[in-house]
Amino acid sequence: MNGKWPAADATGSTIGRRGFLVGSGALLLATACSGDDGGSASSPSTTLHTARLSGDPFTLGVASGDPTPGSMILWTRLAPQPLAADSPGGMPDDLVDVRWQIATDDAFAAVVNEGVATADPDYGHSLHVEAGGLDPAATYFYRFTVGDFTSATGRTRTLPEEGASLDRLTLAVANCQWYESGTFAAYRHLAEEDLDLVVHLGDYIYEYAAGTGARQSAPAHEIVTLPDYRLRYASYKVDPDLQAAHHAHPFLCTWDDHEVANNYLGDTVPEGAVPVEQFPERKAAAYRAWWENIPTRLPAPDSDQLDVFQAFTFGDLARLELLDQRQYADVAPCRDVVADDYGDCAERTEEDRTRLGADQEAWFAETVGQGDVTWDLVGNPVVLAGIDAGTGDEPAFYLDTWDGYPDARVRFIAAMAEADNPVVLTGDYHAGMVLDVNDRPFEAGASLVAPEFMAPPISSVLFDADVSARTPQLRQQLNAHGYLTVTAEPDRLTATFRVLDDVTDARTAITTAATWQVDAGDPTPREV
Ligand SMILES: [Fe+2]
Repeated sequence: MNGKWPAADATGSTIGRRGFLVGSGALLLATACSGDDGGSASSPSTTLHTARLSGDPFTLGVASGDPTPGSMILWTRLAPQPLAADSPGGMPDDLVDVRWQIATDDAFAAVVNEGVATADPDYGHSLHVEAGGLDPAATYFYRFTVGDFTSATGRTRTLPEEGASLDRLTLAVANCQWYESGTFAAYRHLAEEDLDLVVHLGDYIYEYAAGTGARQSAPAHEIVTLPDYRLRYASYKVDPDLQAAHHAHPFLCTWDDHEVANNYLGDTVPEGAVPVEQFPERKAAAYRAWWENIPTRLPAPDSDQLDVFQAFTFGDLARLELLDQRQYADVAPCRDVVADDYGDCAERTEEDRTRLGADQEAWFAETVGQGDVTWDLVGNPVVLAGIDAGTGDEPAFYLDTWDGYPDARVRFIAAMAEADNPVVLTGDYHAGMVLDVNDRPFEAGASLVAPEFMAPPISSVLFDADVSARTPQLRQQLNAHGYLTVTAEPDRLTATFRVLDDVTDARTAITTAATWQVDAGDPTPREV
């Protein structure tokens, strides 16, 4: 583990050994310092990093993520003026010490670990505290304090021990939350679900100019620089429904394209606000801002590279492989000749094209199907089974999906087929779908390897077109906003499509549009 975040006392042995001074007026004091070198536990008694804050610094809420059986990443980012244009979050350019606590009760009567972490302006005053000394498969509550200000309380849950018997795992799959195209009402409902965790498959923000609609993020222009990306995240994260979801459940996150720029692949974007030679610099800014705003255990990036693919194991029941399908991918085929991203071309079927990159592809092949778990949940940001949106005799592949990488897709599915019970969880398409992942998509006589459940978008504009004419592997399409819940049990897995009545209404209701099940040992999904 690379320690870029402030250290925690993994043993909890410092509990009760330090006091806490409360600042007077606007002068905010914390009692202890901790190195931000990630290597040392916080030490008591010395006040070092204080600052004058212009108000409550916890306007962006709190979050937790990337659990292990014994620890959790606790996140916040100080921003007394979250939409300030001249300084990130309206913060002074100083280090600030922040106290954190994690307890077994929401009244914090039974604190099991606490410490002081230092928020650094170089990282947008974000905190990624590793709170250790926790029990496996246990629920905890956490909060942060600076002077007179205390954050909202977050609830979180650790992983079970690897190999431990587990009867049930319930998660939600979220993706595609374009602020301008709808409310985050789905997150208000997701916060109320009985979940172990949330998987986010990307498009946490959109980089577009804010437009002139009813909801407008900041800044108004397409985001390009690090201050732009930081401000865009802040304008999303002040949303109370998004905060409610983070406060209720831990998140496990990967990214898709809009965390950087629409349809970027590797070092290319089809079009954009900066010349292509400036794209690596833009990507580095986007990756840094993503890291600052996500409750991730990963080390902070200092370039245009950050490996976000990782796996999580849930006792003996399931494993989740979270993938990155943008950073290492070859550019989509025929981008210079195919209008409107759709089409077909000879370059599409050239061998040796890569979607995952060599390292991630090898990692996935080694990870999937290894060890004694019943279910392999493949967190796959972009649709795998294939969608031909054409009509009549003309195919129309969306070449930014795996349909632009058919050779790499066959290799990927072959690796996945080594698992006992792979289940693909997908985002990106702005629809809910159930598809069959066949070993050779679109070929007659191909064999079913896994079901693919595509989560509806939280708020992004719906795809809406009917693709059933030339996509025989499609079992269901739901043109609605919402999210997916997935419950894994030893003998079956249940996927439930939760959809909103009206995404433009923050108070809208949610209903179950469809429920599908898969039995262990048989990849055929059936609607129940
Ligand atoms: Fe999206």
